[in-house]
Amino acid sequence: MSRPLDEVAEQKRRAAHSAVERVRSGMVVGLGTGSTARFAVEEIGRRLGNGELSDIVGIPTSTQTRQLAESLGIPLSSLEQHTVLDLAIDGADEIDPEGNLIKGGGGALLREKIVASASRRLLIVADESKLVTRLGESYPLPVEVLEFGWKTHEGPLRELGAESVLRSDAAGRPYRTDSGHYILDCRFHDGITDPEFVEQTLARRPGVIETGLFLGMSPEVFVGRGESS
Ligand code: A5P
Repeated sequence: MSRPLDEVAEQKRRAAHSAVERVRSGMVVGLGTGSTARFAVEEIGRRLGNGELSDIVGIPTSTQTRQLAESLGIPLSSLEQHTVLDLAIDGADEIDPEGNLIKGGGGALLREKIVASASRRLLIVADESKLVTRLGESYPLPVEVLEFGWKTHEGPLRELGAESVLRSDAAGRPYRTDSGHYILDCRFHDGITDPEFVEQTLARRPGVIETGLFLGMSPEVFVGRGESS
């Protein structure tokens, strides 16, 4: 049975606010994408507004987050200006007990992975529904691919144990990422038994831009739990 939306949203908000407590004035901060990261961006904006924080520079992981941060008056910069970030705050679709992640439900996996890799610390914010025992058990793995030859990946993905579906937008057209690519959402029926193998196999395929597997990044995970737990 699904939880009432407002309780899930409250968990997301609590997780995001706990993570923002780690942000210090003067930091370069990666700004994640999605409904949980949004609470963190809003809280950074609030703290900048009331003077609790100053001299923050944000690096947004999507056009959507860029627009949100701009609307909140958060100073923004780029990875050209700042090649190393103090920390990044982002959401996740699944988190396993080792801190490996599936990300990309919001389509921003490529920029999120680049920003996470450039950050000294990765803070992941989530409600408790994102905790899984095995990656892929409840959420499809997003794989960002070039439009050219996108269908050639279906067979090899099936050999890896996944049925893939081309993500579409609200109008029924193929969804395009901020970088203009397609996304294949890959459903592994028994979860992903060997995430490293899947990652390495897909990385070797021409036309695969990036996967939503975030492995071995040792994130600091902030989970907002229900009041009763
Ligand atoms: C965006 O592309 C994703 O990686 C999100 O971080 C992830 O889908 C979590 O989103 P929610 O916080 O909205 O669940």
